[in-house]
Amino acid sequence: MKNRILKVDDLHYVYGNGKLALDGVSVEIFEGEKIAVIGANGSGKSTFFLNLNGVYTPAHGEIIYREMLVNKKNLNELRKNVGIVFQEADNQIIASTVRAEVGFGPMNLRLPKEEVIKRVKEALAYMNLSGFEDRPPHYLSGGEKKRVSIADIVAMKPEVMIFDEPTVSLDPQNAMLLEEVLLKLGGEDKTVLISTHDVDFAYRWAERVLVFCNGKIIADGTPLDVFQNMEILKLTNLKQPTMMEVYNVLVEKKILPDTQAYPKKVQELKAVLDDCAVLLSG
Ligand SMILES: Nc1ncnc2c1ncn2[C@@H]1O[C@H](COP(=O)(O)OP(=O)(O)O)[C@@H](O)[C@H]1O
Ligand SMILES: [Mg+2]
Repeated sequence: MKNRILKVDDLHYVYGNGKLALDGVSVEIFEGEKIAVIGANGSGKSTFFLNLNGVYTPAHGEIIYREMLVNKKNLNELRKNVGIVFQEADNQIIASTVRAEVGFGPMNLRLPKEEVIKRVKEALAYMNLSGFEDRPPHYLSGGEKKRVSIADIVAMKPEVMIFDEPTVSLDPQNAMLLEEVLLKLGGEDKTVLISTHDVDFAYRWAERVLVFCNGKIIADGTPLDVFQNMEILKLTNLKQPTMMEVYNVLVEKKILPDTQAYPKKVQELKAVLDDCAVLLSG
């Protein structure tokens, strides 16, 4: 049994204009989980993330980090351990050089100077940004800026990493590079939450999918469970991942037996088809 890292209980959040953006969200998150958060625009994903990392204070409900009930006094402990990469890098990046930008978080953690320098160096290398130290972040390309905004979080070494729609403003090549980074982080046993409209990515990458609708979580399960639930997909205006659709067509046409062994990648589909061809010819 994995250890619980976050517990959210009956979370409500109301914006200044009276908008109820979270309406009773309860969920438990465990060490090492890879969670995709999906749902229509305005369903509360970003608001949920900003509560999880202590930028926003809930109107009602609790957040428990490890054994600690989060309150005003220990908020920094939450922020230290739950890092968020904003949807728009421009809303996150504040410093005038990449070095200062990535060093900002570790400095706020009051780490010794040598440790800050080491963290910056490591985070930049990790994000393939070595040599960018003296560059002003605001003049970098969209993909480079995104990498800086991720290096910000990598340098803080939080236990939980949150990415709010990370691929939205990236071109396909940068989106692919980012997916590699996300896979790398996943392989390192980090707990990662990503909001996305890309159901194909969610299906390939996640172990668990949370579906938001009108400030509530309306589904929570494996990608297969969630993406087989047509009612949920219709309610949230999402389509089924392409690989599932293709598999279903092949089963319908009796090209594949219905073993429910849904492939996640084209290579896996190919392997399933190859196996099947061997069986037929044998
Ligand atoms: N700063 C804000 N002031 C008032 N309402 C907001 C603000 N930010 C978001 N909202 C509203 O809160 C709801 C949830 O928004 P958000 O969490 O951004 O959804 P998502 O990330 O799923 O698109 C939406 O109705 C949105 O219009
Ligand atoms: Mg959002």
